[in-house]
Amino acid sequence: MFAILPISNTYQFLGLLHVLAAIVAFGPLFLYPRLQRSGETEAIASMHTKLVLPALTLVWVLGMGLAGVGEYDMANTAWMTTSILVWLATMAVSWFLIRPSLTDTSSAAKGKLAAGIGVTHILLIVALYLMVFQPGGSTFKIS
Ligand code: HEM
Repeated sequence: MFAILPISNTYQFLGLLHVLAAIVAFGPLFLYPRLQRSGETEAIASMHTKLVLPALTLVWVLGMGLAGVGEYDMANTAWMTTSILVWLATMAVSWFLIRPSLTDTSSAAKGKLAAGIGVTHILLIVALYLMVFQPGGSTFKIS
């Protein structure tokens, strides 16, 4: 458990970058509420658009790269199709709920930010469960 399958060096390298991108995409969210309370709203907004959203995009790009290099049959790999939906939901929450609340100091915005971060953490747990346990099994090919 918790090892990128030894399908090929390229696959494992892509896996390393995929996990790294996930750490960069989800890590900063733990700091947002504290930074927002101390008035660092511009700093968080810039970190969100310049670091978190691009890293989240890379998580998907590298995930699809893994799927391609591993020659997965995506239509028959339920954990992978579900992870794309989870990723889409994360992107939507990040863009529509978190991003507009960062520079807004109203209490409504604080509530939206807290909700956005809470939902993202739940989605992160679901994504990690799917990645680690791969429910439904896998359809990769080792050549
Ligand atoms: C939504 C956010 C995502 C997070 C947080 C995430 C995180 C991770 C982590 C931590 C691993 C390593 C798991 C292990 O080796 O046991 C992993 C592996 C992997 N992920 Fe993701 N991932 C995400 C989305 C995606 C997406 C959208 C795809 C593409 C459909 C994808 C495809 C893969 C593949 C193919 C592996 C390698 C599995 C293996 O070789 O065992 N991931 N991911």
